[in-house]
Amino acid sequence: MAETIHTEILIIGSGIAGGTAALYASKLFERVTLVTKEKNIENCNSYYAQGGIIYRGNPDSPELLVQDILYAGGKINKKSAAEVLAKEGPDLVEEILIKELEIDFSKNEKGELDLTEEGGHQSRRIIHSEDQTGKKIEIALTQALYRQKNIEIISDFMAIDLISSSHHSPNPLDVYEEPEILGVYGLKDGKIIKILSRATILATGGIGNIYLHSTNPDMASGDGIAMADRAGARIINMEYTQFHPTTLFHKDSKRFLISESVRGEGAVLRNKKQEAFMEKYHPMKDLAPRDIVTRAILSEMTERKENYVYLDLSKVGTKEKIKNRFPHIYHSCMEYDIDITEEMIPVVPAYHFSCGGIFTDIFGKTTLKRLFAVGETACTGLHGGNRLASTSLLEGLVYGQRAVDCIYKNWKKYKKIKKYEIPQWKVTGDEKEDKALIFQDWGTVKSIMWNYVGPIRNSKRLARALKDLNQLADTVEDFYLYCYPERNIIELRNGIRTAKVVALSAWKNKKSIGAHFRED
Ligand code: SIN
Repeated sequence: MAETIHTEILIIGSGIAGGTAALYASKLFERVTLVTKEKNIENCNSYYAQGGIIYRGNPDSPELLVQDILYAGGKINKKSAAEVLAKEGPDLVEEILIKELEIDFSKNEKGELDLTEEGGHQSRRIIHSEDQTGKKIEIALTQALYRQKNIEIISDFMAIDLISSSHHSPNPLDVYEEPEILGVYGLKDGKIIKILSRATILATGGIGNIYLHSTNPDMASGDGIAMADRAGARIINMEYTQFHPTTLFHKDSKRFLISESVRGEGAVLRNKKQEAFMEKYHPMKDLAPRDIVTRAILSEMTERKENYVYLDLSKVGTKEKIKNRFPHIYHSCMEYDIDITEEMIPVVPAYHFSCGGIFTDIFGKTTLKRLFAVGETACTGLHGGNRLASTSLLEGLVYGQRAVDCIYKNWKKYKKIKKYEIPQWKVTGDEKEDKALIFQDWGTVKSIMWNYVGPIRNSKRLARALKDLNQLADTVEDFYLYCYPERNIIELRNGIRTAKVVALSAWKNKKSIGAHFRED
């Protein structure tokens, strides 16, 4: 592979946001480049989305959806971002997912799209593909990307840093100009490659790996947030870390997501005395917004000094219905000898989604010229303090498309670029990364975040988190500088930086709203 690649549009990340952006860009531009750190480009956070994607309920309206988004978000959302999603989302689901990609969404007995419900929705408006909606979308989307001849897909490419005119131009006078993002440096097959682009779209997904217990896959290490932060982009709302109320509690299992749609189909949370407790906490009971259900579960657990509560599926329907509707959850629980058609599932909350991110306007534009961000790594303000269920895939679809549209409509501006003579990456060290130390440091980050920056926070614990993270960040930065860049150390460095951003935002914000809850 050449040491320098030139492209028009660079997309970092292959989830629904990055994939949609790349697919749309390939129809408008001659040269599109999509990079992902995974070997298999399907492997991303979107792949694991179980519940579904918002479409249209009956009755329903964009206004009703906006109401639900704002209510779940604690009314600190940016209303125009929600309006865009509600207005454009369902049409894009139809055009891209149903017609173009022909996703096999589940149908009811009448052969119509099967609509399901999740917490915080006033209408059954979510379509799904059994309980593996993200997987079905990712498979079809990546196949479509490979069919587009003008998309260069580079997998196993670990982005190291965004190339910025103020950080990387050899001309010292360039620091006086407005900084521009010119592409990315990244690691491919042990070599550092420079990709230069007219516009860069960050679609790097979530940050769940910074928490001990998370529904996210391990690759969700906050790379986009960390790179954007180092480049000087504005990052907002990072204290609004959403915890999903129901993940499998089992000594041998990572916290496996038990989709909210299980409650949407009638499942009920019970404490160990078998009491259905949600009616004590909210009129929407088990389908209240996630932050409320999460705190209700934690409160039941604390009151009774118990490690989990139960999710009871007996009201969902027959055994056959449960197996057909939730085959993935059924088989995954069976691996731990839990037959969900016969017994209750022990569940606990775990970290799930970042409602904050790299600040963007409603076209995906960040505060840095030529840099866009879409999907979970971005923050348009859509989710406010707490995300409404099943908005995340839709957000990727809508804002992935909008960012490309914005670049296309302003192409004259993006096409014209100053000549910067960006150098190759300067390697600062040649030591090999020490896997044992990296593993240990990840453990420390995850424990700090879980214990001090978890669902219930106070100023003492947050201050402690910051102190410990700062110390660790210094050590790891030194370590990073002595090493030849490798994926594990790059991810660890990014994870710590992201954890610091979250902890600092949480420490600064003394007001409890949505997913950010201060007991003090
Ligand atoms: C779920 O299925 O509960 C997760 C879907 C989402 O996060 O919106």
